[in-house]
Amino acid sequence: MTDMTLKVAILGAGQAGARHITGFLAVEHAQITAVADTDADLARREADRSGATPFQDWRTALDAASELDAVVVALPHHLHAEAACMAAERGLHVLMEKPMGSSLAEGRRIEEACRTAGVVLMICFVHRFRDEAIQAKAWIEAGHIGVPVNCMETIASPRGSHLGSWINSPDLSGGGVLLYTGVHAMDRLLWLVDAPLRDVHASTRTLTAGSRVEEAVTALLTFDNGAMATLNVTGPTYPAGGTSWRSEIYGTEGVIRIRARQSVEIAGNSLAQRIEVDDTSTRDGENYNFKRQAERFVQAVRDGEVSPIPGRTGLAVLEACQRIYDRGIHGPQFALR
Ligand SMILES: NC(=O)c1ccc[n+]([C@@H]2O[C@H](COP(=O)([O-])OP(=O)(O)OC[C@H]3O[C@@H](n4cnc5c(N)ncnc54)[C@H](O)[C@@H]3O)[C@@H](O)[C@H]2O)c1
Repeated sequence: MTDMTLKVAILGAGQAGARHITGFLAVEHAQITAVADTDADLARREADRSGATPFQDWRTALDAASELDAVVVALPHHLHAEAACMAAERGLHVLMEKPMGSSLAEGRRIEEACRTAGVVLMICFVHRFRDEAIQAKAWIEAGHIGVPVNCMETIASPRGSHLGSWINSPDLSGGGVLLYTGVHAMDRLLWLVDAPLRDVHASTRTLTAGSRVEEAVTALLTFDNGAMATLNVTGPTYPAGGTSWRSEIYGTEGVIRIRARQSVEIAGNSLAQRIEVDDTSTRDGENYNFKRQAERFVQAVRDGEVSPIPGRTGLAVLEACQRIYDRGIHGPQFALR
């Protein structure tokens, strides 16, 4: 453990960047020194809130801020690889928004650049830091559901005008709702089942006339340990309420049910328990998981630990998404490679 305070640049101050700023401001041993966004007003506002210097491009932020230790890449997907690789080449640790890149090749470039530079690369699968997910993982690791057999994973998140228009461009986003939202659900499945993906069957659809990216995905997945899962991802453009996700993991000895921001429960041979989690969100703020994520990143850098969510995890999720695109025979086709 060193007594270093990490100097951090936030690259992109939009939806995700603002939550990262809130997270880092609540963390000890970290100081936001630069905030970059092409929207000058947004950059200034978020920099003021952070006591940082505003920049209007991520490159100028890297060039000007000579004493940086780390960056948070919260940019549109097509900029992830260039920003992360340049940061790594300068010896900066990288907290990388999902998906790792807008293509598998980009993800691999990022992983290699960070490995070669010897910097921490942590992928922002921030749902893992919510109480309900932490509890579910602990029950599984303690053996309370036996071996996972049959899983149902559902996530829905509206794609309205509150989001950047780039998410609807295959060139800028790399894909549709699967890459912007579904990656969280795919990561959760791979994490909770804890086995490599074997077979993938999938279909993709659009919900909006003229959409150039998929807005709905259904997949049937099997895993090397025999588990199977259905994955449902939907991104309606009509007012469908906020982001919601739920997971059900049926094992040989019991079942875990997660209702995001509501509850997590287990019922089985060795344990029956239900925990309400909305109190935690109310007490610590809706985005308390961003603070926990920032804490773990800072700790990994300061203590020289391995990344809590390393590049290979981000790559496994990208590979799984590519396999869905390969099998999604109805609707737009993408090539992440
Ligand atoms: N973990 C989560 O809960 C979560 C939520 C939303 C988005 N994300 C991820 O965060 C990333 C950003 O998504 P978002 O929804 O915040 O997008 P956004 O459009 O809201 O924010 C991106 C910001 O980057 C800025 N930008 C564009 N080009 C730039 C440049 N050259 N230099 C500096 N700034 C530039 C834009 O002006 C914009 O403000 C994506 O990878 C997305 O998948 C994660």
